[in-house]
Amino acid sequence: MTKGQIASLATGAQGPETPDPARTVRLTAPALRALKGRRKIAALTAYDAPTAALLDAAGVDLLLVGDSIEMVVYGAADTLGASLDRMVAHARAVSGSAKRALVVGDLPYLTYHTTPEDAVRNAARFVVEGGCRAVKLEGGVQRLPMIKAILSAEIPVMGHLGLTPQSVNALGGFKVQGRRATEARRIVDEAKRLVDAGIFALVLECVPAEVAARITEAIPVPTIGIGAGAGCDGQILVFHDLVGLTAPGARTPRFVRRYADVGAIVRTAAAAYVADVRTGAFPSEAESFAADLAESRDPDHAGPVALYAAGTGRR
Ligand code: KIV
Repeated sequence: MTKGQIASLATGAQGPETPDPARTVRLTAPALRALKGRRKIAALTAYDAPTAALLDAAGVDLLLVGDSIEMVVYGAADTLGASLDRMVAHARAVSGSAKRALVVGDLPYLTYHTTPEDAVRNAARFVVEGGCRAVKLEGGVQRLPMIKAILSAEIPVMGHLGLTPQSVNALGGFKVQGRRATEARRIVDEAKRLVDAGIFALVLECVPAEVAARITEAIPVPTIGIGAGAGCDGQILVFHDLVGLTAPGARTPRFVRRYADVGAIVRTAAAAYVADVRTGAFPSEAESFAADLAESRDPDHAGPVALYAAGTGRR
């Protein structure tokens, strides 16, 4: 075993080009933090079990059960209405399915803005009920008491600066943050204060690439960028944007790179299904069940019909 492989075992890390589907050691927050300077971190949002399993098998390091769910799954115009109960249920689906990625629960609006006690209680729900190993929350110095309280309950915290979507009303829209020198300095300063408080990683959303690169150099924990340029230690995107699983005509932000057009695949498949149903081409005989009419025994006592293939849970 090489030194690199031993280090890899110690951190639970593996190269993105060699995801090992058999690997079951889950990446922890300290292990993710230790990736800084070693290799880039690939993160995505996930909200359900099958997607989490696919992304996990593809080698994604961190799965964020993001409050973006409110927009991309529930169709809202912003994230403010995301409910903790609902997100914890989605978190349970994701963490039950991902074998190696670090699953992080995104604290929704008003679950950590009031008191440190509320913040701890709500963060703990992601861990105890949702199976997450860390939480994320948005904001700078005004969140320090809540971050410290959550950390003191032994829950790792990921920060989020720049465009913080839960502040959309205060910011006056979804806008790039830190374009001007004073604003950029404030974000750099807040990043350092969050690190001093103990965060293990920091999401930087929609900040100029130069500012994100400066923060990345200035702090010892990984920066995970979204619309923050290539200088970050890692990148995160919303899964639905990545694969084009969006409503027809929906606009995606400029920083998104679309790797597939799942929307087009779904439309084509559904249109073919509609046509087959209307012409009677679906279902075929092979997709139907035959009766055993020659038997004289009572069908109610004929025993269970194997609707599900053994062990697969599938029809
Ligand atoms: O909720 C979310 O998806 C996020 C990412 C955009 C970082 O916070």
